[in-house]
Amino acid sequence: MTRYIIKGGNPLNGEITISGAKNAAVAIIPATLLCDGPCRIENIPQISDVTMFLDILSRMGANIRTINKHTMEIDCSGVNRKEATFDAMRRIRASYYMLGAMLGKFGKATVAMPGGCNFGGDRPIDQHIKGFTAMGAKVEVKNGLVLAEAAEKLHGTKVYMDVVSVGATINVMLAAVLAEGTMVIENAAREPHIVDLANFLNAMGADVRGAGTDVIKIRGVKSLHGGAYSIIPDQIEAGTYMAAVAGAGGNVVIKNVIPKHLDCISVKLREMGVTVEDGEDFVRVISDGKITRTNIKTKPYPGFPTDMQPQLSVVLCLSDGTSVVTEGVWDNRYKYVDEIRKMGAKIQVDGRVAVIEGVEALTGAPVKACDLRAGAAMVIAGLCANGITEIEGVGYIERGYENLIEKLSDVGAEIFSEDIPDESVEQLNIG
Ligand code: EPU
Repeated sequence: MTRYIIKGGNPLNGEITISGAKNAAVAIIPATLLCDGPCRIENIPQISDVTMFLDILSRMGANIRTINKHTMEIDCSGVNRKEATFDAMRRIRASYYMLGAMLGKFGKATVAMPGGCNFGGDRPIDQHIKGFTAMGAKVEVKNGLVLAEAAEKLHGTKVYMDVVSVGATINVMLAAVLAEGTMVIENAAREPHIVDLANFLNAMGADVRGAGTDVIKIRGVKSLHGGAYSIIPDQIEAGTYMAAVAGAGGNVVIKNVIPKHLDCISVKLREMGVTVEDGEDFVRVISDGKITRTNIKTKPYPGFPTDMQPQLSVVLCLSDGTSVVTEGVWDNRYKYVDEIRKMGAKIQVDGRVAVIEGVEALTGAPVKACDLRAGAAMVIAGLCANGITEIEGVGYIERGYENLIEKLSDVGAEIFSEDIPDESVEQLNIG
């Protein structure tokens, strides 16, 4: 097991290059199953969620060739396995995308249900099932497996999502690209990774329109071919480093980003007294570490992302007043608060609302990451705090952040990782 040790208090100065988007990669990689030729995917982040996904595909018979650090050629033409029930499936939440991809390709799928998780209650999949069922599949959940089968070819229809769900939107898109007729998803999620998946599918011969709006139309095509595609930069990785500079102070250029995707984060940081300058494919963040209080409410894109809530909440702990944070997406995403309190934060949580009273300073303490973004928030807290912070459970962080230690060290942070004797830090499926 590994832990991170951070000596806080250093301002951050220099440049950080952002990797490919995790949540786009974990949708596009299973989508290669729908293609009849090799797909060359560029800008793949080197993170454990991606490694696990590639492992799942290769165990199903995909031929995967590493071209370079961030480029893979994935050829799923030889895959004919309609089951993905191995344990690895239970470790990443996004493994449920195999359902849509296999159902779309073979008309049948048996997939291990992503298990319990550490925020959001049960993280239901009723909207995924609603979409598949509307297209003519029978879906059953039993013995920890999801079984989906279409007696006849899946057909397009209209489905209205009762909640805006990234996962359900993506899964229905995957199932619909090779279906008969036109599938219309209403109240669809609009996140950048949904647009990225649509662009990937269209580059391989699909006919997907409207991605990025709340109505997506997918006209089924006979087949998809192989080709080349480059994944968009990670909005949340970029936002995390922006938050780190805001809290720790400094002047950092965050490179390889799409500034438009960061608007909701940049606007909030400006309200907090931080300077954010947009370039063509970079943002510059300048902060003296003095934070103005504000309120945040998380919402589906283009609202403020729930995946940035813990990181900005931690920065608000150092503000000049009281801030109110409302979690509008997940039921229980404040588990990290107890850990941050050990560092001197003053946060009261009532249901989906956190009231944060700014303090003069945080102090280093031993803390434990309880999910990916909570872990990132603890790193930020450690960078801002006086003294030493030790973070356990960093396996969570490494699921979604490529080379975090190197990227932060390069801008002046004192952070390193240390191996410690194994103990049972349970890895639950998140992200
Ligand atoms: N929901 C339902 N029924 C469903 C699906 C979702 O009620 O069938 C509810 C959820 O309980 C939640 C809300 O709808 O309250 C939104 O869930 P969504 O389906 O959008 O989440 P997800 O697809 O499981 C993805 C990201 C998460 C991110 C959420 C929201 C991936 C792999 N994961 O999860 O990312 O928080 O969208 O933006 O794309 C992370 O990266 O740290 C992470 C957790």
